[in-house]
Order: sequence, then C-alpha cells, then structure tokens
Amino acid sequence: MKSGGDTRMRTRAGRYLAGPRLRLPAHRASSATLAGAYPFLTAGPCDLGVPVGLDALTGAPFCFDPWALYGSGELTNPNVLLAGVIGQGKSSLAKSIAMRSITAGRSVYVPGDPKGEWAPVAQAVGGTVLRLGPGQSTRLNPLDVTAGTDSHGPRVRLLAAVAALTLHRELGAAEHGALDAALALAERQRPVPTLAAVLEALVTPDARASHDDHVRVEDRKLEGREVSHGLRRLVRGDLAGFFDGPTTERLDPSAPIVVLDLSLFGSDEDALALAMTCGSAWLEGTLAGSALPRWVVYDEAWRVLRHVPLVRRMQSQWKLSRAHGIANLMVLHRLSDLDAIGHRGSEARALAEGLLADCSTRVIYRQEADQLAGTAALLGLTRPEQDLLPVLPRGTGLWKMPRRTHVVHHLLHPLEADVVDTDAAMRDDTNQRTGGWSG
Ligand SMILES: Nc1ncnc2c1ncn2[C@@H]1O[C@H](COP(=O)(O)OP(=O)(O)OP(=O)(O)O)[C@@H](O)[C@H]1O
Ligand SMILES: [Mg+2]
Repeated sequence: MKSGGDTRMRTRAGRYLAGPRLRLPAHRASSATLAGAYPFLTAGPCDLGVPVGLDALTGAPFCFDPWALYGSGELTNPNVLLAGVIGQGKSSLAKSIAMRSITAGRSVYVPGDPKGEWAPVAQAVGGTVLRLGPGQSTRLNPLDVTAGTDSHGPRVRLLAAVAALTLHRELGAAEHGALDAALALAERQRPVPTLAAVLEALVTPDARASHDDHVRVEDRKLEGREVSHGLRRLVRGDLAGFFDGPTTERLDPSAPIVVLDLSLFGSDEDALALAMTCGSAWLEGTLAGSALPRWVVYDEAWRVLRHVPLVRRMQSQWKLSRAHGIANLMVLHRLSDLDAIGHRGSEARALAEGLLADCSTRVIYRQEADQLAGTAALLGLTRPEQDLLPVLPRGTGLWKMPRRTHVVHHLLHPLEADVVDTDAAMRDDTNQRTGGWSG
C-alpha cells in the first residue's frame, strides 16, 4: 500500500479540482503493518453476545456468545481455547463470561475445579457446588445414568476409562469382555449398579453368562483380574468412599451453574483425573435433560491432558457439543501443553490436536518468548500478532476467530472483581477496591 500520491478531489460532475498539496514522502508497508495504523483495516465490531471488554485497537465494546456467533456464521464451532502464562487473568475471563452468560440465559458446568476457585462464582449466582474429597460426605455414583437413556454403553465406557487410568494402560479385548459381562451381571442385580457391585461381579463372574459367551468361568476370572485391581482403588483404595456407593446428592438440572470442586485432592494428578472422569460422567448423566445452552469450562485443563482416557472422553463430548448446545472452554498455559499428551504421530497426540482443531475461537494471553514461534505456527498468527504476545498486559488477549482477530481488554466490574480475585494471598490490603469498572 502507498500513501502521499494524488491529492485531487473529484466534483459531483466527475471533474477533478486541485486540492492542497500534501508534501508527505511516499510510504510503503505491508497490509499487515498498516492494519495497525489504519483503523478502517481492522475487523468490524464484534457486538453479538455478552459484553467482555473493549477492543484495544478501536475502543469499541467487544461482545461474545458462541451460540449467536455460530448462528451468524462467524464461528465454525462453539468451543474456545484460552491460553496464557500464570496470573494473566485467564480464569477471571472465564468466570466473568460464565456469570454474564448466565444473565443472558445460558447455564454453566465446571466438571473439575482443581483449585476450588469457582465456588464463589456459584455462590454469587445461586448455583451448586459439589465438593468431593477427604472429609466430605458427598458421594457420587458414576454409574447412576439418567433413566430412559441407553445406560449400559456409557457405563461400560466409563468403567473402561477408569480402569485404563488406574492401570496406566489401555485394556485388551478380553478385559473389555470381562468388564462388560461384570457390568451386565451387576445390572441384573439392581437397576443402578455401583462400582462395588461391578468389582464383586469381576471377581466372581456369572457361570451361565460365561458359558453363553463360550468362555470358561476360570478364564473370565483371569481376564478380569487386572481390571478388578484397577477398579479396587475406588472401592477399597485411596479413593474409596467418593464414587463406590449410591449417590448422596440430588441435583437441580436447571441450576445456573454446577461446579465440581476437586481441590481436596490436592496435587495428586491421578486422583484428580479419576475424580474428574467419575464426577463428570455422573454430572453429564444428571444434566442430560437440561435444555439450556451450556458452557462447559475446563479450567486448569493442562493438569489433566496427560491422561489419554480422560482426553478421549473429553473429545467425544466435544464432538457432540453442537448437537447438545454445549460450548467447551479449555484453559491452558501454553499451546505446548498439548504436546505433553504424546509424541508426534501417536493416537494421544492426534486427540490433542483434534481438541485444538475443534476450538474455532482461540484467545491467547501473554506468552513466554520460547512459545512465540510454536504458537504463531499453530494458530497462523501474523508477525505483528506474534510480536504482541509477549507484551500483552494482564487481562488483555488476542482473540482469533476464523474470520476476525481482535485484541481485547477484559473489563471487570467491581462486583465481579471480588468474586474472581485469586491474588488475595499476595496482598496485605485486601479491602481496597473502589467503584466503577476496573481496567
Ligand atoms: N481484566 C482484569 N482487570 C483487572 N484485574 C484482573 C483482570 N483479570 C484478572 N485480574 C486479576 O488478576 C489476578 C489473577 O487472575 P486469574 O486468577 O484469573 O489468572 P490466571 O491466568 O487464571 O492465573 P493461573 O494461571 O494461576 O490460573 C486476579 O486476582 C484478578 O483479580
Ligand atoms: Mg486460573
């Protein structure tokens, strides 16, 4: 593009008048660079949905609602990836989008809150917090799938995922067979079986069912041996008492937000992954009948991405997101968190890449210098966008959507600021908030 050329003005009749001559030197630059200098080259306002903050380039309000934007053709799917270094305001953004979306008639579900920081959000909007872990009386039966649906399939997939997580390997075909038969036996005993009943059925298989499957009962016992060791962790091991009996909670499917607080599991990554797998299976079954479009927020998702069975479950949920009116929001530190799941070419890596591909909105907060090239390559960032990433201030992010890019400063309302505050422990003066919108 070039400036400093012809300055004549055209009259209505189409003739030219000589205008005042601007004595500017010609200037050449790429369209990408000039897009920063010429506001008319920036994307038009994004004004569909709930307010998020201000477009840092135009000063216009920036709004977002994946359902409305999907409906208008701006997005190819409703899922969102949010990445940024520690303390930049990722969770704050997720929480204020959640709260604002609730006022617009959406609901929210947080299938695993490892830091216990979503409880204030649920309290602020009259939602539900289920706190699981040592010292709590809450017990969820993950096999408690809502009546009327095909319950055997989801139950056996859940049990296979739990066994694969505890054994740190995939199950073989014979092990799947043993698990399937044990679940069928437990289901014959009572309509909503428990993990303890499935474990019992693995250890003492049904002779008649084995005979019908052309398997000797001793062989079936052997085939189910390691699987039963895997499941035992949730029945008699360190996770006993959380998922191995009838459910103690009744959930209102119309609750604006449901949070599964897993902070009591601390830094035990295996326990967190297992609790998230069982807890989310129960919640998905319970909330299946709710008609409201729902955000499903995976805050701190990087902590569970190493567990392939869990990522596989996440991905199958994501594939159904449009059919069920669900928008998933996955929070990471950096895109290379996705590499941690497996080496290039592996099934695990393909799952992680699939998750990224299924997020048509990518919000990138500040990134460390060593992440820039990889992030730019994965997301197709222009050079100026890439240069922006290491200098983005707290609360400001690059929003990449299929047909538009915005730099957005997220504005917190003082009422929200207290709810999203995770810095209290770092301050002496926790009560110095003032009115107005904080920028
Ligand atoms: N837009 C904003 N304006 C003002 N303060 C903000 C904004 N966003 C976040 N903060 C403040 O920054 C602090 C850190 O925010 P937050 O916990 O959301 O960061 P994070 O990126 O999720 O961190 P972590 O990676 O540790 O989870 C919070 O106390 C919050 O109040
Ligand atoms: Mg956070």
